[in-house]
Amino acid sequence: MRMSSSHSSSSFSDGCTSGEAQVGEMMSNNVSKIIGEEGVPEEAKKAYEANYKAHRKGITYDSMVKTYDEWAEKYDQDLCPGVYNGPELVANALNQELDREGKNKEDVRVLDVAAGTGRVGVELYKFGFRNIDALEPSEKMLHLLRQRNIYRKEWQDSIGFHQTKIQDDTYDYVASAGGMGEGHMPVTAIDEMIRIVKPGGLIVIVMREEYLSYVNEYVNKLEPHLSSLVAEGKCEKVSRTVVPNYCFNKNGVVFVYKVL
Ligand SMILES: C[S@@+](CC[C@H](N)C(=O)[O-])C[C@H]1O[C@@H](n2cnc3c(N)ncnc32)[C@H](O)[C@@H]1O
Repeated sequence: MRMSSSHSSSSFSDGCTSGEAQVGEMMSNNVSKIIGEEGVPEEAKKAYEANYKAHRKGITYDSMVKTYDEWAEKYDQDLCPGVYNGPELVANALNQELDREGKNKEDVRVLDVAAGTGRVGVELYKFGFRNIDALEPSEKMLHLLRQRNIYRKEWQDSIGFHQTKIQDDTYDYVASAGGMGEGHMPVTAIDEMIRIVKPGGLIVIVMREEYLSYVNEYVNKLEPHLSSLVAEGKCEKVSRTVVPNYCFNKNGVVFVYKVL
């Protein structure tokens, strides 16, 4: 569905055969440093570098998907709970909102956006959610997600670049962990989330806080975009919470918005 195959620009085609080589080259040539690595615990540095391959400065969408395809088998090991806690944080936040609303978790329909290998589904399942779909562009990540037998439906697609095939007002909730980053979801992903979530439903997103200050797509754009969607009467802000130890001992920010 995503036009990834039609995009020809790929950092890997510039003479690099793997993400590892790419990062190695960046380090040895000092062309670009591994952004954000300062302060990462020593034992998590290898995982940080693996993650950085998919978030490196200037990465194209196609290279990003290819990097996840190549990384998929080691993703859960590298970004294990403790190192990366996005899935637990987004599931906790959504669960709390449902408890507040007194909703039955088995009934509500949730879309996990940028679902990866399905770790958010695992956490939602623990809270009693049973009607969970996934949207994820990487075939190899989806392959692992499928093996969890948690998700009902998979959309192999991206969000934010075009209208997905999902009908208007399909989902009660969208949950997304780790889908924001260099070359990942553009701010327009929020518009598409609003389109596919029913009025009264919630969008819950967790991302690394520091991306708001150095990922060009988000700097002075993501939060102003959210504010303009609120001003246009498309959604309302429920909460914005900075949380510690989202990943690599760095803060995350959890956004909760209600669709109007
Ligand atoms: C860091 S992983 C997070 C995976 C999973 N949510 C988790 O928390 O483990 C980021 C995922 O976002 C996906 N992704 C990146 N850009 C996307 C986009 N525009 N639309 C949908 N998914 C995207 C990638 O393919 C990758 O699987």
